[in-house]
Amino acid sequence: MEIDHGGGTEYAERLHPAERSHGLEQGGLREDVWLTEFVTDGFAGAVFRGLFGGKAVAVKTLDMSRSTSRLGYLLNEATVLMELSPLWDVTVPRLLAYGPYTDSTYAVILSWIEGRPLMVHDKGLLRSAAEALRSVHRRGYLHGDVRLSNFIVDGQNKVSCIDFGFAQKSLDDQAFRKEERQLKACFGKE
Ligand SMILES: Nc1ncnc2c1ncn2[C@@H]1O[C@H](COP(=O)(O)OP(=O)(O)OP(=O)(O)O)[C@@H](O)[C@H]1O
Ligand SMILES: [Mg+2]
Repeated sequence: MEIDHGGGTEYAERLHPAERSHGLEQGGLREDVWLTEFVTDGFAGAVFRGLFGGKAVAVKTLDMSRSTSRLGYLLNEATVLMELSPLWDVTVPRLLAYGPYTDSTYAVILSWIEGRPLMVHDKGLLRSAAEALRSVHRRGYLHGDVRLSNFIVDGQNKVSCIDFGFAQKSLDDQAFRKEERQLKACFGKE
């Protein structure tokens, strides 16, 4: 397969799926993943843009040879997204695969949301961002890490939530409202 590696050549590599996979549909992790672009060094490890089954994906990785202490964060993200499946590609990314790849790398693969993270000048998008956050709340989860960089706005000004590493089950209305206030505060609103 021909891949345009763009500026990400340094990071472009083929990952070799390991034998095991976790709770995924048949073959989920056995498909090849191509990393096409380094996006950022996140909380658990490097985040890449890539291709998986011909589709644009986000690949969140953990280099377990350096540390396994943040594996719980990646596993939590996968577990929570599984529970949020009715929101996939609506207000949260779709979980496509997760599990060990190389001997030392763990990865979570999500559908890529075309757009950009919210910025403080995007006050006009508060309503759309709050709607995305509330959709998660209505499914019984606190996001746990409400920050502008964890919301992506697309070309139609629709906002999605990402980054569920700290999400947790909750039925606490007050906690939900507190997260909504946190979101407002990100835009400098009271
Ligand atoms: N599904 C996705 N679609 C598009 N971009 C994404 C996606 N997932 C992650 N990104 C990009 O990668 C960045 C980091 O992703 P994410 O917040 O999920 O990882 P993280 O490890 O928690 O990083 P951080 O510590 O910066 O919050 C996001 O701000 C966004 O720019
Ligand atoms: Mg984040």
